[in-house]
Amino acid sequence: MLLLPLLLLGVILPGGDNEDVFQGPTSYHVMQISTFVNSTWAQNQGSGWLDDLQIHGWESDSGTAIFLKPWSKGNFSDDEVTELVDLFRAYFIGFTREVQDPVNEFQLEYPFVIQIIAGCELHSGEAIESSWRGALGGLDFVSIQNHSCVPAPDSGSRGQKFCALISQYQGISDIIERLISETCPRYLLGVLDAGKAELQRQVKPEAWLSSGPTPGPGHTLLVCHVSGFYPKPVRVMWMRGEQEEPGTRQGDVMPNADSTWYLRVTLDVAAGEAAGLSCRVKHSSLGDQDIILYWGHPTSIGLILVAIIIPSLILLICLALWFWRCWSYQNIL
Ligand SMILES: *[C@@H]1O[C@H](CO)[C@@H](O)[C@H](O)[C@H]1NC(C)=O
Repeated sequence: MLLLPLLLLGVILPGGDNEDVFQGPTSYHVMQISTFVNSTWAQNQGSGWLDDLQIHGWESDSGTAIFLKPWSKGNFSDDEVTELVDLFRAYFIGFTREVQDPVNEFQLEYPFVIQIIAGCELHSGEAIESSWRGALGGLDFVSIQNHSCVPAPDSGSRGQKFCALISQYQGISDIIERLISETCPRYLLGVLDAGKAELQRQVKPEAWLSSGPTPGPGHTLLVCHVSGFYPKPVRVMWMRGEQEEPGTRQGDVMPNADSTWYLRVTLDVAAGEAAGLSCRVKHSSLGDQDIILYWGHPTSIGLILVAIIIPSLILLICLALWFWRCWSYQNIL
């Protein structure tokens, strides 16, 4: 008999939230941006990212890694980290020399930029997928797919030449292959665990309303600001009653300096139609308690009254009492 209510509870309580159990980033990528100004001058920028959170930098003059978080080394030992940093230093030097080598067949015209992004991503069911992509002048150039080099469709004969060249350097190909398909997954699992207190934290947003620049005569731009939240997924809507207003326009989610996020969502309304509109914020840190702010709501004026006018009145009364006491003492003397 006891089992039945328990079973019913199981049906009523939301239990299908498994996909939300893991909050936080699911991928690690290293990014290389190499700028070749002329035949003697080049600059390499390197960085490491968990989704859109940067956790590694690269000091290119000295050739050392910068660990931006106390847990940026994941569960790798200091020896292993040193070995990887040495490998990247040698790679950057070799890469620059190869690209600038006047006998290479690519004959790129200075200045040009090469971008490389490589890493691995956790998928549901614990599968980890690795990737490596290179771009030239901002356009896809080559990628590694199923362990082989594939020229991008628009890369022309250069992409094919590059893949032919890299296939001659079996040693380098093997190192790249090992880094993205063995080292990266091992590092990703370790760093997600080492940083989980920070990566899976929940920080509640603050929200406020303002009016933006007038979009046109007789119109008002209502702006709903939502700031200081973590993680990044958020849903912000302008509502009339229980209905979402169709003209809601969402900006980009922008980073704050403290690694939380900021978003503004606007609505262009005809003057006089703003009354009764509200901004609704849904975020994982809030649970079911959405933030709802009403446009022109009297509570905000009420709060101003309480916060400013009452303390001022109290101060005035105190001052009056004090003057009155001084004045009466003088009268006695
Ligand atoms: C290469 O570019 C650097 C930086 O702009 C400049 O100082 C240098 O003179 C240039 N060298 C040549 C050979 O053009």
